[in-house]
Amino acid sequence: MAKKEIDVLDFPDDFLWGVATAAYQIEGAFDTDGKGASIWDTYTNEKSFKNGNANEAIDFYNNFEEDIKRIKELNLDSFRFSLSWSRIFPKGTGEINMAGVAFYHKVIDTCLDQGITPWVTLYHWDLPQELEDKGGWTNRSILDWFSFYVDFCTKEYGSKVSNWMVMNEPMSFIGLGYFTGQHAPGKKGLKKFLPAAHHATLCQAIGGRIVRENVEGAYIGTTFSCSHVTPKNYFWSNIKAAKRVDALLNRFFIEPLLGMGYPYKEFLGLKKIKKYFKSGDEKLMQFDFDFIGLQYYFRIVAKYNLLPPILFAKEVSALERNVKTNSMGMEIYHKGLYKMIKKFSKYEGINAIYITEAGVCLDDELIDGKVKDPKRIKYMKKTFSKILKAIRKGKNVKGVFLWTLVDNFEWAEGYKPRFGLIYNDFKTQKRTLKKSAFWLQSFLKRKEKIYPDS
Ligand code: BGC
Repeated sequence: MAKKEIDVLDFPDDFLWGVATAAYQIEGAFDTDGKGASIWDTYTNEKSFKNGNANEAIDFYNNFEEDIKRIKELNLDSFRFSLSWSRIFPKGTGEINMAGVAFYHKVIDTCLDQGITPWVTLYHWDLPQELEDKGGWTNRSILDWFSFYVDFCTKEYGSKVSNWMVMNEPMSFIGLGYFTGQHAPGKKGLKKFLPAAHHATLCQAIGGRIVRENVEGAYIGTTFSCSHVTPKNYFWSNIKAAKRVDALLNRFFIEPLLGMGYPYKEFLGLKKIKKYFKSGDEKLMQFDFDFIGLQYYFRIVAKYNLLPPILFAKEVSALERNVKTNSMGMEIYHKGLYKMIKKFSKYEGINAIYITEAGVCLDDELIDGKVKDPKRIKYMKKTFSKILKAIRKGKNVKGVFLWTLVDNFEWAEGYKPRFGLIYNDFKTQKRTLKKSAFWLQSFLKRKEKIYPDS
């Protein structure tokens, strides 16, 4: 029997369909109207950085109205975007930049006018440079700086926005930014990583509490990167290595939040983080979020290795394994999404799950005014069917945000990886809907036809 095509009507009526973006990757206008520098402005404008910068990005700053209309045109109902801290507070704290504040009011108002629900991420990696100069995430004062910022934003926009996400993927910005140095601010080593990680753990919970306090009826979450991790083979040393990688990538930030502490059992060396604890921290890092966001892109196959210390594990790359990948060389492995939903659903204290990012980068090309990306269509179908499977098995998955609306600046990789449903010509900023966007549009349209009032 032929396999049934995925159908939007198989999903619960209130299942949410959105797209996700991040300020630094789209806005541009990096020093316009009083915006201060963020660590990403500094990092990408250094001579040693070879993959461009997002000074202009996709100029969402000047194109937000059209882009939000495009979300509507695709029949999506929700838009996840982040606030740029240094656009609102150029120096991180202190003086407010009213033009920056007004910009996000306009973005939110445009969403509301279009009938698109705004989902705001408070922190998606672009720390104000002034704060990094004082140690950034490694400095415990970040607890105050972050609280100040979150307090302001939630009071300012709370009457219009109910859906809040405190952070985007702490393991990514702390791991890559303060351990391996592959992301801004380019810091390296355990002595940077451990305090930065602990402060981020505290801030995610502190942020949650501030939103709860300031926004009546708020729906509050925070997001985590996750990767399905398997051992290279069933040698004991590799199985243990995979467990450590899993603990680091999937458990590190969620377990303290749920009152379980850091996953010390998997790697004893992690106990060194206790050096950065103050009395009361165990309690301070807990918060009862309404939902968590899972962001899934790839699987990791791990094996034992002497380096790096503490982790003693290494990835067996997708290239070595000769498996299907996206254009950044990450394995496309749909089953992993289902496994991640299952894994996180097992935690007591997780009330609801949204897939706050899922997407694929491909070598899309504009030919004769069209972009054919059948692989992205297939990617979406498979992603949706794994989510549906999870829902049918009783998991509380309530929505998906595709990454992303328009091709944008992919951090350390620059403009080459194209993740968008909409193609962007970075010279002219002309947007062209890819074939996948048309597919999504008609996939979602069926819902409207059947439920005209929804
Ligand atoms: C990040 C996005 C990024 C995407 C694709 C996620 O980890 O939140 O900002 O563009 O992955 O790599």
